[in-house]
Amino acid sequence: MEVIIRPDKEKATKLVAKIIAKAVREKPTLVLGLATGNTMEPLYAELAEIHKREKLDFSLCRTFNLDEYVGLKAGHRNSYRHYMNEHLFKYINIDIRNTHLPSGTARDLDRECEKYEQTIKECGGIDLQLLGIGRSGHIGFNEPLSAFFSRTRVKALTPTTIAQNSPLFDKPEDMPKRAITMGVGTILEAKRVITLVVGSSKAEILAKSVEGPVTSMVSASALQLHPKCVVITDEKASSNLQGRDYYRWIFENEPEWEEYR
Ligand code: F6R
Repeated sequence: MEVIIRPDKEKATKLVAKIIAKAVREKPTLVLGLATGNTMEPLYAELAEIHKREKLDFSLCRTFNLDEYVGLKAGHRNSYRHYMNEHLFKYINIDIRNTHLPSGTARDLDRECEKYEQTIKECGGIDLQLLGIGRSGHIGFNEPLSAFFSRTRVKALTPTTIAQNSPLFDKPEDMPKRAITMGVGTILEAKRVITLVVGSSKAEILAKSVEGPVTSMVSASALQLHPKCVVITDEKASSNLQGRDYYRWIFENEPEWEEYR
């Protein structure tokens, strides 16, 4: 795992956007794993901007989102399908038929999860998976004790996650308590992972995820096992990291980061 610290969340977000844009240019048929949430909103705005400004071409890309709430129709304003359409897909030239999210209203949810895994496989696997980390340590909706070999499945959300996300609902009590999520095992199979974590509210969980023991109590700690994972963060979220000076040195000195400095 590599950790890159940028001075603020704008710079961290722009760096992630640049890495994704480069990956799309290098492989126009890129299979991109996507996340939702507050952290991703400015990132998607930046990707839309790069598409407009530099004609970044998404026409052959395929995307797979990490998760979807159980029980919300695609058109519901809090569904992740709606989020993706509103924050990214409608601003770029992606073929909407190539954008995948699990259906939270499928009659047979287990079958829906199996189908999702199958479709990822048929596309050749995920080339680049984008992640955020929730305050419970989740990646996707893999709440504490998610098995590191878990696959796409229905997961009950923790009170921490419900407290994090329910203010986004008109009536907070209407937030679904379950979601379909890619498993930790599904995520770990992505060829490359980029995790964006910003803001002081994430400082504690980021330190546990990156420098703490690998434990299913903190799903994001499984990323320490991934051979090609970079965590891009800002000064505020990195304030509890013991290796901060080393991580800063990496960005300033390692040749792979030269083009982004
Ligand atoms: C949602 C997802 C979640 C979020 C995490 C952080 O698709 O993957 O794991 O990335 O909950 O959310 P924010 O960015 O709102 O703090």
